[in-house]
Amino acid sequence: MKNYFSIKDIDALETWIDEAIALKKEPLANKMLGVDKTIGLLFFNPSLRTRLSTQKAAINLGMNVIVMNFTGEGWSLEYNDGVIMDQGNSEHVKEAAQVISQYCDVLAIRAFAQLKNKEDDYSEQVLQSFIKYATIPVINMESAAGHPLQALTDAITITEHTSVKKPKVVLSWAPHPKALPQAVANSFVEIMQIMDVDLVITHPEGFELADEITKETPIDHNQERAFENADFIYVKNWSSYSEYGKVGNDESWKITSAKMKKTNNAKLMHCLPVRRNVVLDDAVLDSKNAIVIEQANNRTYAAQLVLQKILESR
Ligand code: CP
Repeated sequence: MKNYFSIKDIDALETWIDEAIALKKEPLANKMLGVDKTIGLLFFNPSLRTRLSTQKAAINLGMNVIVMNFTGEGWSLEYNDGVIMDQGNSEHVKEAAQVISQYCDVLAIRAFAQLKNKEDDYSEQVLQSFIKYATIPVINMESAAGHPLQALTDAITITEHTSVKKPKVVLSWAPHPKALPQAVANSFVEIMQIMDVDLVITHPEGFELADEITKETPIDHNQERAFENADFIYVKNWSSYSEYGKVGNDESWKITSAKMKKTNNAKLMHCLPVRRNVVLDDAVLDSKNAIVIEQANNRTYAAQLVLQKILESR
């Protein structure tokens, strides 16, 4: 595998999940694989889980880790070609990506959607520019339109917690005071579509994800009806795709204990961070059905599996 940019880079999901669960049992099984190799982690946005779990994954494989926060520390980068660079940007990604490629063996990048222009965001200019100019593999640590490390984690977590042959998985929109990207929801839908689950998406009208993402997946605008018989509730806010970047904070969509009672004793998932008593009630997040902490733990094994596959193919 050259790059891990999207769910499409997973060639055999069931095998990958089995391998990740095996890694979780023996995380140091391949502790020599990455010796004398360096991963560079570039952050254009904040992170807790992605940063620490990817570092932990690299350490489990014996790698060295270099981290750079571009907001505040790095030169502001230009991505367009042929630009007269007499404004704010100090360095072109063409040089930056080639230079970093000399210091590192693998590069991982986080660059969120700006939520101003849909076409710009969905062109994935930052990640695609680094993929174009870097001479080393690139891993997506959440780009404008996708979060494939999170989605792989979610697939692992659902597999571990499934007690029925084909679980009903509900992706539920929930309110949030700020405009959030569609990235997590996009990748979650894409990975669930290739798993043996019964996926339903529920959100208020006007918060449809891109048709290219949802395809034939059922969408129910009645949240309580969607929750009926669900085995997993995956909670996530996203801003509007059609009215690009519009905030959605309808409190009636908050996840409550009463709504969870409609389910088949469903497990509650969220990628974190989550705002308590805005997105969901304390009682929901503190219930025994919430598996968000174990879900976050699985970030390490998803990242480790991806890194291992990249190292093995070099
Ligand atoms: N879920 C996730 O990506 O968390 P962070 O933003 O903290 O990395």
